[in-house]
Amino acid sequence: MNENIKLICPVCGNKLNALEKSLVCKKNHSFDIARQGYINLLPVQNKHSLNPGDTKAMLLARREFLDSGKYSAICRDVADAVNRYKITKTPVLADIGCGEGYYTVRLAELCNAFCAGIDISKDGVRAACSRSRDILWLVSTASRLPFEDESVDVVTAMFSLLMPEEYSRVLKKGGCVTEVTVGSRHLYELKEIIYDEVFEQDKHPAPVSGSLKEVECTEHSYKISLDNSRLKALLLMTPHFWRIRRERREMLENTRNLELTVHYWVRVLCKK
Ligand SMILES: C[S@@+](CC[C@H](N)C(=O)[O-])C[C@H]1O[C@@H](n2cnc3c(N)ncnc32)[C@H](O)[C@@H]1O
Repeated sequence: MNENIKLICPVCGNKLNALEKSLVCKKNHSFDIARQGYINLLPVQNKHSLNPGDTKAMLLARREFLDSGKYSAICRDVADAVNRYKITKTPVLADIGCGEGYYTVRLAELCNAFCAGIDISKDGVRAACSRSRDILWLVSTASRLPFEDESVDVVTAMFSLLMPEEYSRVLKKGGCVTEVTVGSRHLYELKEIIYDEVFEQDKHPAPVSGSLKEVECTEHSYKISLDNSRLKALLLMTPHFWRIRRERREMLENTRNLELTVHYWVRVLCKK
């Protein structure tokens, strides 16, 4: 296990040490390293449902879509932002809400980072293990991260959650959070098919207070063209899937090709 990543027990907060095929704290709370390589650090009391997070079908769709490379520009934009602000050449990077690991693996490479991928979905983390064994994959909640105070250089949140206080706790002084959030025109053409009316809400990331200070917030937009199978995969990985009416779904199932807008914000928040 990578000794640059300092883990703490999710039950008592004491340091976790590697012992054969498990991690153990001084109070003898023990967590097995699963056969696939991940560690489940989500105690039942922090679990609010049986299988929290994305379903297996959503994860498969996410993998199929992301592997097409249509969102690789997002990853490069985030890596560029991380590299502009990182405080060391080889940072410890925690990717929160890593899902099936597409971005985590690429960020590790592009940022020359020691990476941990964290997600509340065990299925997501299991899928992520098959992408790389060089990442520390953890089942955990973003609201109580299993890292020592001030032990992480970079936190990334790719279309995931922002928990400013918790991210600030684990970040070293001068460390940064880089988050990606969707813009108001993101997948607009898909929403036009799904809904009778599409409201363009202002999706500029909400201001944060506390010890994280916004140092950069940039808007990005480009077009992608999707064939029928990628379109279906994209739909399944978004929350629109649960809202679409049958006749609209049929319409999409018969759409051969669709040009879509990808619109997102990349924001960097640094710890004072
Ligand atoms: C929209 S997905 C983004 C996944 C990945 N970052 C990507 O862009 O492909 C949000 C992810 O956050 C995870 N998630 C939701 N609540 C969480 C929590 N409290 N702690 C950690 N992860 C959480 C979900 O399981 C899901 O994988």
